Amino acid sequence: MPEVMTNQWAAQVLAEHEHLRELIADLKTFLEAPRPKIGEKGSHTWSSELSQRLVTLHDELFRHFRFEDEGGMVEELSVAHPRFADRINEVVAEHPQMLKAVRGIMVDALSYSEGEKPEDPQLRRVLAVLDQLAEHERKETDLIQRAEYRDTGAAD
Ligand SMILES: [Fe+2]
Repeated sequence: MPEVMTNQWAAQVLAEHEHLRELIADLKTFLEAPRPKIGEKGSHTWSSELSQRLVTLHDELFRHFRFEDEGGMVEELSVAHPRFADRINEVVAEHPQMLKAVRGIMVDALSYSEGEKPEDPQLRRVLAVLDQLAEHERKETDLIQRAEYRDTGAAD
């Protein structure tokens, strides 16, 4: 088992991943529940709530990614673990893409709220984006844990 994280940035990043996992799980539960059809009573309230949840997710992601990019994770992992450099670059490059994808589904949610059909009337894209996001965070968590694990001198 990896040792307890001693790096401040690692502890914070992993705690934020845990929080983001909960946020994503809550959003999926909300999306999986029955919802009013577009234009029917309750549909505006439903889509407004979805929009608000996505705004919160976008804000928290923005701050989380900024901390990962500038708070020591990228710098330390790249320097201490050059063998991970490609994978670190890969996850960092995904940050702006993830934010853009969340903004895209926010627009869909707001269109739904207006009683207009967004491009994907079932908002299926929202679930796809949430899955991509969860996968992105899993990759980072894995990278951090593998780096720490190796630091303890234990085998992979
Ligand atoms: Fe992350």
